[in-house]
Amino acid sequence: MDESTPLARELASEARRREKLAGRSFPRPAETRILTVSNQKGGVGKTTTTVNLAAALATAGLNVLVIDIDPQGNASTALGIDHHAEVESIYDVLIDDLPLGKVVAPCPDINNLLCAPATIHLAGAEIELVSLVAREQRLSRAIAEYAKEREAAGLPRLDFIFIDCPPSLGLLTVNAFVAAREVLIPIQCEYYALEGLSQLLKNIEMIQKHLNADLEVSTILLTMYDGRTNLAAQVAAEVREHFPEQVLKAVVPRSVRISEAPSYQQTIMTYDPSSSGALSYLEAAAEIAQRQ
Ligand SMILES: Nc1ncnc2c1ncn2[C@@H]1O[C@H](COP(=O)(O)OP(=O)(O)O)[C@@H](O)[C@H]1O
Ligand SMILES: [Mg+2]
Repeated sequence: MDESTPLARELASEARRREKLAGRSFPRPAETRILTVSNQKGGVGKTTTTVNLAAALATAGLNVLVIDIDPQGNASTALGIDHHAEVESIYDVLIDDLPLGKVVAPCPDINNLLCAPATIHLAGAEIELVSLVAREQRLSRAIAEYAKEREAAGLPRLDFIFIDCPPSLGLLTVNAFVAAREVLIPIQCEYYALEGLSQLLKNIEMIQKHLNADLEVSTILLTMYDGRTNLAAQVAAEVREHFPEQVLKAVVPRSVRISEAPSYQQTIMTYDPSSSGALSYLEAAAEIAQRQ
């Protein structure tokens, strides 16, 4: 291929990256891996990362569940799951002890991908949870029950569960931290990227100390990377310096295709599988599956 122009070089490099991934099968984890996707900043790419990684892993044949605990229900929307106010949702699971299996729905476009939707009722759950027994453990228990139920019904074990958190550190996010083993932090490659991160890490430490000793920040994904700016490169370098073990090699570019997909109730994996955004999320998913 002629690599004399920047565009040609970029296409050639994408082709090489694609070739590397082609035919690679993702290993199944020895036990279900539960990742909480968290960052108390809004708009950093939590939901986008949740649905696209989940879709990438499911497309590779793994069994994946997305649990949406953001009252906005953006993850449910992106996965094409009904979540209007009357739908039974994760709200009923957390507040009324409805079994998780009763609200889990299959994603219409992707095999092996399930979603427990969020409805607007969740907005009140932060307050309603306060007076309930075992208020921090409700999601964790619901997931454990669901795993037993699946086994009893002869359904395959889930390989991955992703929990899409709201942009706050309230009881909903605490439930996610208690239910998970791993925290995945998406970081937007922009000026204030690291601001607020120490608060998040402090909260995670508190959870480790009091509620879930096994919790660890396993993965950091750099998102909305704009290769044309020095700033993005600087932020990426800084994050890698602080968290050399956690930051994935794969970086998600800023891409219009990625931001368009949810309005078609799609992930990038089905909306535009040949895009650079889909390639990046597939690479990130491969890395996550590889590291266990
Ligand atoms: N890589 C990307 N390129 C372009 N836009 C993106 C990218 N990732 C996310 N977005 C857009 O940025 C906004 C915030 O992303 P979202 O995933 O909803 O963040 P959060 O869940 O942290 O609030 C959304 O409009 C989304 O479509
Ligand atoms: Mg979100």
